[in-house]
Amino acid sequence: MDFGYTEHSYRHLGIVSKRAGDILRDLGYDERTVELARIAGYMHDIGNCVNRVDHAHSGAILSYNILKDMGMSVEERTEIMMAIRKP
Ligand SMILES: [Fe+2]
Repeated sequence: MDFGYTEHSYRHLGIVSKRAGDILRDLGYDERTVELARIAGYMHDIGNCVNRVDHAHSGAILSYNILKDMGMSVEERTEIMMAIRKP
């Protein structure tokens, strides 16, 4: 049965985060890059708090500013922003 609802719970975020990290680890990336992928995976749907439409775009901007406020370097937060924005 389709209720027109897609699951965006913490469970979903955890799964995406783990898989993103696993993929980069399996490809041989360093541990920090693997961690950035995990962060991007965990934050990738944050734009849904603005609107479902174009949530990747709004999520990229939101995540960039949150990570900036948390003190992440511009290089790392830009990587995460671009990972979230990719269609
Ligand atoms: Fe998602």
